[in-house]
Amino acid sequence: MANTILVGAQWGDEGKGKIIDVLTEQADIVVRSQGGANAGHTVIVGDQQYILHLVPSGILRPRKQCVIGNGVVVDPFALVEEIRMLEELGVKVDGKLHLSDAAHLVMPYHRLLDACRETRRRGRKIGTTRRGIGPAYADKAARTGLRVMDLIDEERFPAMLKERIRENNAVLKTFGEKPLSYAKVLADCRAAAERLRPLVTNTVVWLNRQIQRGKNVLFEGAQGTFLDIDHGTYPYVTSSNTTAGGACTGSGVAPNRIDRVVGVTKAYTTRVGEGPFPTESEELGDLLHSMGREFGATTGRPRRCGWFDAVLARHAAMINGMDEIAVTNLDGLDTLERLRICVGYRLHGRKLDHVPANLHDLAACEPIYRELPGWRQSTAGARTWKDLPAGARRYLETIAGLMGAKLRIVSVGPARDQTIFLD
Ligand code: IMP
Repeated sequence: MANTILVGAQWGDEGKGKIIDVLTEQADIVVRSQGGANAGHTVIVGDQQYILHLVPSGILRPRKQCVIGNGVVVDPFALVEEIRMLEELGVKVDGKLHLSDAAHLVMPYHRLLDACRETRRRGRKIGTTRRGIGPAYADKAARTGLRVMDLIDEERFPAMLKERIRENNAVLKTFGEKPLSYAKVLADCRAAAERLRPLVTNTVVWLNRQIQRGKNVLFEGAQGTFLDIDHGTYPYVTSSNTTAGGACTGSGVAPNRIDRVVGVTKAYTTRVGEGPFPTESEELGDLLHSMGREFGATTGRPRRCGWFDAVLARHAAMINGMDEIAVTNLDGLDTLERLRICVGYRLHGRKLDHVPANLHDLAACEPIYRELPGWRQSTAGARTWKDLPAGARRYLETIAGLMGAKLRIVSVGPARDQTIFLD
């Protein structure tokens, strides 16, 4: 398969978990390189549904190695809990999961601060997952973070933690929050360190050695292009680089070791949390929600829904250098009589064919739609390109053409076999 970066082309929740799972078959190693427990990758194997937040979904397949890279922010308690859940379901973790010693930790004060700041924002909420992601990355950038290597250092960790708790308790006080107990957090951290210690390694060196030996690596992106801290709809973004470049910095694998970039996009658009969304459509949201679709995997929140936005998707293809695309949730559109694709924006009477950097401009953009007829039949049973109705094929070809990338995978349902590969 060669070394592949998989990224989301929209605002996250593109159905990456399923595509990662099917691509994992051809990979030896699966790597998470950014984000944290804010992600929620849903994978369905047989009758069992798994929702993974930190552990790469490669863990569900025997003989695959998984890495949580240096760019991830790791909540040690959430990770221990996820490992426990996996083991309870019979999934082997030890010997398969490698945790970067350099990854930063999400600590209890990060979670509290995330929640406090969201509450204080009132009308300007970001709609974060409240998993402490922003405050943890802020500490990393401020060089006041604690890392996995600190957590497992029994001698040095207590003093480092004490200092961090002291400083953060002072901040929490300004929000009217109760102070955290150093003794309690230390005891919890010690217990988590005990479970995680055997998994910790220098993943940068380990990964590069594996690549030298000819192993194939799949980098599973979390969140999506427009949640990227640099390229997304700031400040309504997450705090990491969700785009292809983030896979390299977050793993220590150089760009010239990457062979291809696969972008995952839904056949329509969704977004959780706040921020501009030009093609948002209540009608489409009502339809998808009534089908039981489009509720967040991490928070259970109903996702905002809208028509496929080719302006955004084309921009994502450019930033990520997408060679190929996977289109998911095609079956969500099966019942519609007519479909809309946004092919441009109109901003203050002028036509735009790109995403404006200014958030207020994006919020003021009116979509210019191209309408296509629906296919009005189920695609859930399609297993080859030819099985798809002509209208669905035309819709997919239009999307790929507008994005300027090769259509490689179409997903027509959550199960592994509801996947069409195009050669
Ligand atoms: P945070 O990453 O929890 O700080 O949240 C910041 C923004 O990113 C919010 O709008 C979240 O809803 C969104 N977000 C974070 N992770 C995901 C994800 O995995 N899927 C979709 N949206 C996400």
